[in-house]
This record gives sequence, C-alpha cells and structure tokens, in this order.
Amino acid sequence: MEDALRFDYLVIGSGIAGLLYALKVADRGPVALVTKKTSAESNTNYAQGGIASVMSPEDSFELHVQDTLTAGAGLCKEEVVRTVVREGPERVRELMALGLQFTEREVPGQPGHRELDLGREGGHSKRRIVHARDMTGREIERALVAAAERHANIRIFENHFAVDLITTHKLGVDGANRCLGAYVLDKRGGQVRVFAAPVVVLATGGCGKVYLYTTNPDIATGDGVAMAYRAGAAVANMEFIQFHPTCLYHPKLKSFLISEAVRGEGAVLRGFDGQEFMARYDPRKELAPRDIVARAIDSEMKRTGADHVWLDITHKPAPFIIQRFPNIYRTCLEVGLDITKEPIPVVPAAHYQCGGVVTDLNGATEIAGLYAIGEVACTGLHGANRLASNSLLEALVCAHRAARHSRDNPPPPVDVAIPPWQSGHAHNPDELVVISHLWDEIRRLMWDYVGIVRTNKRLRRAATRLANLQAEIHEYYWDFIVTSDLLELRNIATVAELIVQCALRRPESRGLHYNLDYPNPDPAWAGRDTILRREAQPVCPDSEAAQRVTP
Ligand code: FAD
Ligand code: SIN
Repeated sequence: MEDALRFDYLVIGSGIAGLLYALKVADRGPVALVTKKTSAESNTNYAQGGIASVMSPEDSFELHVQDTLTAGAGLCKEEVVRTVVREGPERVRELMALGLQFTEREVPGQPGHRELDLGREGGHSKRRIVHARDMTGREIERALVAAAERHANIRIFENHFAVDLITTHKLGVDGANRCLGAYVLDKRGGQVRVFAAPVVVLATGGCGKVYLYTTNPDIATGDGVAMAYRAGAAVANMEFIQFHPTCLYHPKLKSFLISEAVRGEGAVLRGFDGQEFMARYDPRKELAPRDIVARAIDSEMKRTGADHVWLDITHKPAPFIIQRFPNIYRTCLEVGLDITKEPIPVVPAAHYQCGGVVTDLNGATEIAGLYAIGEVACTGLHGANRLASNSLLEALVCAHRAARHSRDNPPPPVDVAIPPWQSGHAHNPDELVVISHLWDEIRRLMWDYVGIVRTNKRLRRAATRLANLQAEIHEYYWDFIVTSDLLELRNIATVAELIVQCALRRPESRGLHYNLDYPNPDPAWAGRDTILRREAQPVCPDSEAAQRVTP
C-alpha cells in the first residue's frame, strides 16, 4: 500500500485561480497541483473577453463598483465589491510582470506611445476590459503554466482527479472540522492516492456541464462544490446560473462562445425577420447586463418559434473584425461562416456559476485549512448576476489574498492517521452506456426545467426526478471501481440538486433567477443568500421548512 503523498499545500485545479495561488505560496514550501486533465484545460483557457479592471484615468473605482452592484441586483456584498475592484489593477500589473501580453494600442495623438487597449462589455459604463485579443484565457494559461512548470517547489499532477476531501469529521475526530488533504484518482494508473497537506485549496472552477447547452469545456462538472458540500462546508446562491446570451448555434461546433466584446464593438442582435429587438427589452440594448439580454433572446425565440437569433457585426470593416476577433473569425470560418459577411446564429447557454462554496475575501471556508478560490467560490462579489469579465478579476484578487492568508496563518499540526481509500465491493463498470445516459438525462432535465425561465412546478418536478436519480446512482454505481465518468456523474447530480434546492428556496425573481410564479424581486429577499449545508434536508417550495432557511 502506497504511503500518503505529503505537501505543504495541495491545490486542486490549474485554471487562473489554482495556478496563481500555487505560484504565490511556492517559495514557502512544496506544492502539489492536481488537475484532472492537462494543465491548461480549464474554463480559464477559453476566456475571450478579458479582465475587468480600472486601468484608465477616464474610469474610476466608484464606477466599476456601481456597475458591479447594479448587475448583482441587490445581492452583492458591497465591501467585497469595493475590495476586489480596488485591488484589481495591481494584480493585473503583476500578471504583466509575469510575462502576460495584453493587447495594446497607440495612444491617440501620441505616435510611438502604447497603452492597454481596453474593451467594452455589457453592464460596464466605461471601457475597462484588459484582453489579449479574443484569446485572453489562452494567454493567461500559457504564461501561468510555464511559470508553474519552472518553479522547483511546484509539482504538477496532470490526469489526477480529486475524488473527495479528507476531513477530521469524516474520520470521526471531534472538535472543529479540519481539512487534511484529499483522495485523488490517478486516471492513468487507476488507483486512488492520499494527498495530505495542512492547507487544501479548491480551485476547481464551475459547473456549466450540468446543463445540456453550455459554453464550458468538459472539465466544468462542479466537482469542487460537490466535494465541499459532502465535507460539510456551506454552499450558497447556486440558483444564480449565468446564461451567456451568445453561444454559437452550429451543428458542427457546440459550446463555442461569441464574446460579449463583439457586442461591445457594436454588433447587434436580430430576430428571424432581420429586425433588431433589444430596444424593446432594455434601453441599454445589446449592452444591458447578461441576464436581461439572455432572457430577451429566450423570449424572442419562444415568441417566433425560432431555434436561434442572429448576431450581426457585418457593418464593421472586415480588417477590424479579423484583427480584433481573430479566434472567433477563424473558428467560424472553419465551419463555413464568414462573420465579416454574414450574421452569426447564436443562442444562450449556461456559462457561469455565481454561487458556490461560501468563503470570506481570503478564500477561507468554514472548514479549517480549506480554501476555495475562483469560480468554485461564493465570495459575495457577483450577487445575483456577475458583471462581464469580473470573474477573472475575482480569481486574481482572491488567489492573492488566499495565498497571503494561508502563508500568514499556518494551521497547527494535527496527529490523525489518514486511512487509505476504501473501494468497497468494487468491480468493473460494465454499464458505461448507462452512466452516459444518466448524465444526459440530468443535463436535459436541468435545461428544460431549471433554465433561464423557471416555475415552481418545473422546479418541483426536477427535484423529484433528481432525488430518484441520486438514489439510483448511489445504489447501482457507487460500488464500482471509480472512474472519472462515474465521479463526474455523481458530482453533477449533487450540483444539480443544489441548484434546484436553492432555486426552490428563493420565492422571488432576482438577477439570473427568474421564476414566473414570482415575477418580481421581493424587497424582503434583498441581501439574503440561500445557504445549504449537508445536514439540511431537501425541502419542497411551499413547505414549512422552506420558510425557515437561514438568510
Ligand atoms: P477553471 O479555469 O475552470 O479551472 C478549474 C480547474 O480545476 C481545471 O484545471 C480543472 O481541470 C480542474 N478540476 C476541476 N475538477 C477537478 C477535480 N475533481 N480534480 C482535479 N482537478 C479538477 N470570465 C471573465 O472574467 N472574462 C472572460 O472573458 C471570460 N470568458 C469566458 C469564456 C468562456 C468560454 C468561459 C467558459 C468562461 C469565461 N469566463 C470569463 C469565466 C472564467 O473563464 C472562469 O470563471 C474562470 O476562468 C474560472 O477560473 P478558475 O481558476 O476558478 O477555474
Ligand atoms: C465573453 O467574452 O463574453 C465572456 C466574458 C465573461 O464571461 O465575463
């Protein structure tokens, strides 16, 4: 039997949050960075628009704060917003010092002088998006992975899938719950290994794959939220799933995002009749916050029976489009669509998880020694709807703060023996096809019943079906030899239930949570989070228990 692998820091996930954290603590001690596919494969890698940050004298912290609060629809924590916005520019400059190359332009009227080319996106009152053309995430991963690989104290474990957190409570030790490490599946060797560390960081990203249509890559199965919830940490605001308004609608290319920056540069949305429609929904038209634009598109599609709408940027000069959006231009051209000449078919798709594991501004969770940073965390920055490009910003700021906090507050040693992974009565999974059917069923159910527009009836039906699916997964599949497919199925089932349970507990419409049975925000729910802990029993919407949820 293999001994536990011991490190000072265990980081789970190699997107912007995990990589940056690892780089910031590595001078203090050995870091294990485990990631379930290759190092660069992450939501971060696909980020297009960029990082929202106040970098121009024409902008101000106050404007960025107000834009964030407005998008967040009365649920942001103002102190968190102010801190993240204020600390953003320094973190962006750090990235540049690490070798990241953001797009620049010549300063108007000053030949030979360069400055950052700041983009514009929905909900922002100023141009403030720092970007690397339309491949910002790829540039971030390129530079951060290279820096992590160069660091002697960082050991990267690719194809290592974190199965579950190891905590004192799970081991039956009394007192405050403390995280001691994680069980991690080596996907190549097939064995589950113990990674022990006094500080464990969840940087596992979001859960877009819980929905049938998503902009997210395959890694986004909500593993971190599911693991933290199983370990007893509080999870909040999972009802606020952000649907990006403009995902490419094409049979040969699923999940390809058409950046909001395209609308920021003047693209307009048109219905099937070729007419613009956004003015009927919001005076800010295409640059209204995302929840509004996604609902407007959904409503147009339902009204006309169309299966997509059009995004049109053909009125801009072709050289500008190709230069500003080379990735979008090239990718669309590969499937026969020339965006300089024809409009782009687009649909909304699940994009971002605004809720997550409850943390403070240092990424600290309720479990000692466990941090959560990046999309997996719920810090209070996004409230009921994330402002475009505030996610990479939050990850930058919180990775920095979590690194500082964990370096300055090392947890005291605990003397607890960690048992090896118990694989139960494992045998080979001979029903892989069933696992994939269950996975498809959950994703379709979430799309149909827990999508952009919800009702109590649909949510209740989803809750009932998910409870049955959970029982089925547990009964038939939990004793199998663990595989990443099975682990992801278990995690998406858990996260789907958390989304539904949070949605059932919020009797109002606010930001991204739109329920036809309560079409308006309820002032009594402003500033109130929906918090779930594992001990809590699932509830039905109108039950007595639903009224007793901790605000
Ligand atoms: P991720 O970058 O998703 O990284 C998660 C990591 O955890 C991955 O390495 C994954 O493999 C690993 N992992 C997950 N589970 C496990 C497990 N069980 N075991 C081991 N490893 C695991 N935001 C912006 O601010 N600006 C943008 O322009 C922007 N554009 C976007 C475009 C697209 C197409 C998408 C999908 C998202 C975009 N976002 C954008 C959102 C933003 O990219 C993400 O929120 C952010 O990158 C999340 O970073 P992260 O480090 O938290 O997680
Ligand atoms: C985009 O480029 O439209 C994505 C920006 C974001 O999700 O913040």
